[in-house]
Amino acid sequence: MALSDFPRHPLTFGPSPVHPLPRLTAHLGGASIWAKREDCNAGLAYGGNKTRKLEYIVPDALAQGADTLVSIGGYQSNHTRQVAAVAASLGLAAVLVQEHWVDWPDPLNDRVGNIMLSRIMGAEVRLDQAGFGIGFKESWTRAIEDVRARGGRPYAIPAGASDHRLGGLGFAHWAYEVAAQERELGVVFDTIVVCAVTGSTQAGMIAGFAALEEAGGAPRRVIGIDASATLDETRDQVARIARATAELIGVARPLRDDEITVLPGWAGDRYGVPVESTIDAIRLTGRLEGVILDPVYEGKSMAGLVDLVTSGDIPRDATVLYAHLGGQPALNAYSGLFTH
Ligand SMILES: Cc1ncc(COP(=O)(O)O)c(C=O)c1O
Repeated sequence: MALSDFPRHPLTFGPSPVHPLPRLTAHLGGASIWAKREDCNAGLAYGGNKTRKLEYIVPDALAQGADTLVSIGGYQSNHTRQVAAVAASLGLAAVLVQEHWVDWPDPLNDRVGNIMLSRIMGAEVRLDQAGFGIGFKESWTRAIEDVRARGGRPYAIPAGASDHRLGGLGFAHWAYEVAAQERELGVVFDTIVVCAVTGSTQAGMIAGFAALEEAGGAPRRVIGIDASATLDETRDQVARIARATAELIGVARPLRDDEITVLPGWAGDRYGVPVESTIDAIRLTGRLEGVILDPVYEGKSMAGLVDLVTSGDIPRDATVLYAHLGGQPALNAYSGLFTH
């Protein structure tokens, strides 16, 4: 099967914008830096990377006759907020397990930002004290059973819509979109920088670019920047989903280990807790480009990009596409970081 054989329910505006970051490029004095903007890819509650993944999961939910989407994340999960928005737009219910993934001292952590948006959109939000983990959780299984017990038809979406048979397809599609935009813009991105936590964003890209390369496309370096602080789990999940997605979309050869790169160094010690390089990257991108990043994901991947370009690991003649995956609503739960 090829990617085009899988049904896709459009939830985005269409191809997400791609544009250069000239002042950041000049500041770093090296590689040419561009961004592709999943943070403004849809009109559904600010969109983001999960909205793309859900384009390939929704047809399966609808085919199964589901009436309730059940998912899980932290209190400030961008993913569950996007599930809530997609459910609302389809006339489905949403049950969201929101766990205490981040020990962050903001007193409004379970009130503002993403979780507030999910409540506004009518989702049933269940707070749970369990800590961070990208695997399957008991609270999620319980929520699915509860929906069934009250006569509903649940459709289970794992954390980050990642560990799901169709979870990698949204970003395989993204790779095809990039290839089409390159032809329009007359540019080739040899390097992609992307944040990785639950893994299917980067995994889908790797699979999509592998399929394109098989069809004669340019080879790419897809650099994942870990923001989970549980590197082995995230790397394993990226590798597993990349290989499964590649097979699903008909890539004939097995993916090589060197195609799966998830780098440590910018996550700090804990998921969801920014470190100095995160805050520096957020301020730098805001000051130079007017582009806003969050302290959980994108601030960390941009910190990685800045260091990799500065150190020459990404060479000066590279053309880099920074995948901006969204996440800004969580900034509201981190107001203490930016009081001056
Ligand atoms: C804004 C943002 N960036 C990056 C990621 C990481 O993507 P993934 O979980 O697919 O690795 C997420 C979700 O986890 C996210 O919400």
